[in-house]
Amino acid sequence: MGIILHQFKLHNIAIEVVDSKQEMGIRAAEIIANKIIKKPNIVLGLSTGSTPVPVYSELISYYSDGVISFKDVKTFNLDEYYPIDPSNSQSYQYTMRRDLFSHIDIPIENIHFPDCLSHSPVEASLNYEVLIEKSGGIDLLLGGIGHNTHIAFNEPPAQSDSRTRLIELSDETRRINSRFFETIEKVPKYAITMGLGTILDAKEIILCAFGAAKSEAIYQALFEKPNPNVPGAYLQNHQNCRFILDQAAASKIL
Ligand code: F6R
Repeated sequence: MGIILHQFKLHNIAIEVVDSKQEMGIRAAEIIANKIIKKPNIVLGLSTGSTPVPVYSELISYYSDGVISFKDVKTFNLDEYYPIDPSNSQSYQYTMRRDLFSHIDIPIENIHFPDCLSHSPVEASLNYEVLIEKSGGIDLLLGGIGHNTHIAFNEPPAQSDSRTRLIELSDETRRINSRFFETIEKVPKYAITMGLGTILDAKEIILCAFGAAKSEAIYQALFEKPNPNVPGAYLQNHQNCRFILDQAAASKIL
């Protein structure tokens, strides 16, 4: 069980501070596993990047120990580069297979990503919204936050009612994400991302963050007035949102 060092509420957001990124993973996975036990056909919104990796490792352990099954779980990833081939090792589909899907019993047809090989990103985005709606909406969304408080790839300025769409990645995000690519030129310039409206429609949101580099983004998300230049601050308006932070990410709010 995850050990919570500090627990408090700001706006509507339940904040939990834990000791380390491992504890962050343990705590978030504990909540998600309990939800899967209660609702085996839960619809999850999932993010990529470094933040959710410790959560996915813990979820894999719950599965390997026979505590949970993903056979009826449906997933919708928050975003994917555009255009990108799913076999490209930098695609989010590839990293999700590597970090979670290939280790659990989720049927392939239950896994969803925006179609990033589609010739029409507009059609691919609309189809994604329709698929989410047909699945009954996202029950629980696991997110991370960017340095500029982007959630998914909703780069500032981002409107709170935006839906899934093609976006141009900011220079800052491309520079930060270039750590996964050989050179910055190889980082795609575009992505298809769920909109802030799509994300805020999730019935429950867990936002995780670890490391001092995220402390300013966490501070802004919690203390700035929600506005398009601080997309993360719109989470203040959600009715069922929890932040799980390690001490370093929480350092500016404690
Ligand atoms: C990716 C996503 C992004 C990341 C954010 C933080 O699916 O939703 O918003 O959560 O860029 O990335 P990391 O976790 O690599 O620091």
